[in-house]
Amino acid sequence: MNGIQKLKTAYPWIQTPVIVGAPMRLISLADLAVQISRAGGIGFIGGGTEPDLEEHLIRAKSLLADSPLPSRSNTLPIGVGFINWGAPLSSSIPIIKKYRPAAAWFFAPRSIASLIEWTMDTRAASPETEIWVQVGSVSEALSVVRDVQPNVLVVQGSDAGGHGLAQGAGVISLVPEVSDAVAALVAKEGKNAPIIIAAGGIVEGRGVAAALVLGASGVVMGTRFLASKEAKIAKGYQDEVVRAKDGGQTTVRTKVYDNLRGTTGWADTYNGRGIINKSYTDAVAGLNEDENKKLYNEEVSKGDAGWGVDGRLTTYAGTGVGLVTDVMSAAEIVTEVRERTRHVLERLNGQ
Ligand SMILES: Cc1cc2nc3c(=O)[nH]c(=O)nc-3n(C[C@H](O)[C@H](O)[C@H](O)COP(=O)(O)O)c2cc1C
Repeated sequence: MNGIQKLKTAYPWIQTPVIVGAPMRLISLADLAVQISRAGGIGFIGGGTEPDLEEHLIRAKSLLADSPLPSRSNTLPIGVGFINWGAPLSSSIPIIKKYRPAAAWFFAPRSIASLIEWTMDTRAASPETEIWVQVGSVSEALSVVRDVQPNVLVVQGSDAGGHGLAQGAGVISLVPEVSDAVAALVAKEGKNAPIIIAAGGIVEGRGVAAALVLGASGVVMGTRFLASKEAKIAKGYQDEVVRAKDGGQTTVRTKVYDNLRGTTGWADTYNGRGIINKSYTDAVAGLNEDENKKLYNEEVSKGDAGWGVDGRLTTYAGTGVGLVTDVMSAAEIVTEVRERTRHVLERLNGQ
């Protein structure tokens, strides 16, 4: 079975090309995840490091109750994402056991030993829940495949919005190198081959087609869904995602935003990509961190006006922002991206 056939077996409601909604902490909640799955993609709730995951699963279950989607072994036809360095293992596992999401997504564990523990406990609690692990380098991919044998490896390139490895490559070189290295490992050590999905900078049909050509069986989009009606996002933030153009110039990978917000549990090897604003330009110009934090906290009280080039509030987004031009429903996004990908692939076939 190839990757796409495996995905269709594990997630029988999906349509191809496979479009996955990233589990963005605080932003991708039940409404967004369910609508993405309903449109034939795979929606993820961003459980992140939050203790209130259960309420999102209760809502997802109720949204799915009226007209259920076909799922394997009656699992909940969405996934749940964890930021493992901060998520509470002991309270998360009973929730996975109770709600049986179709997939559990792991990211940024403290150590490979911790990732092994999460994986084993999840598999014991809900054997039908597939394990997805997001990685950002060839070495990380090899270590994860060797030690936890995930069902899906999400290969995150450096264009991605939000957190990822501070040092990295774009998907155009990362995905084929990871695919080759993983294929060689699987052949040598007799491991199960994971399905490879690409993430980072993919926001529309041409990017999806490119990712498929690179060897991915589907794509993850985060930034594109920031401009969805179902995203739980402030208007000021969403307006910025639609406004920003030329993402290579107007976004940056930095730790400044985490430092100002106090989300400082990330390992040194990680930072986050966001739209450049005053918090960043002042930090680069030498403003002392305490003063910058004070200004940040004052900006929070401005609400939507706190976002923008002259604003200070954190606006995590990837380099693909320039291609995001409208706010649409999640279903429209999934359908449009899928259709446009098909057109690109048909055009290439006709050449
Ligand atoms: C606002 C935002 C929040 C994110 N939060 C998470 C998260 O909580 N957990 C996670 O695994 N990835 C998170 N990511 C990263 C995504 O999983 C994914 O790698 C990324 O969105 C892909 O790149 P793109 O934004 O260019 O589509 C986040 C991304 C964004 C833009």
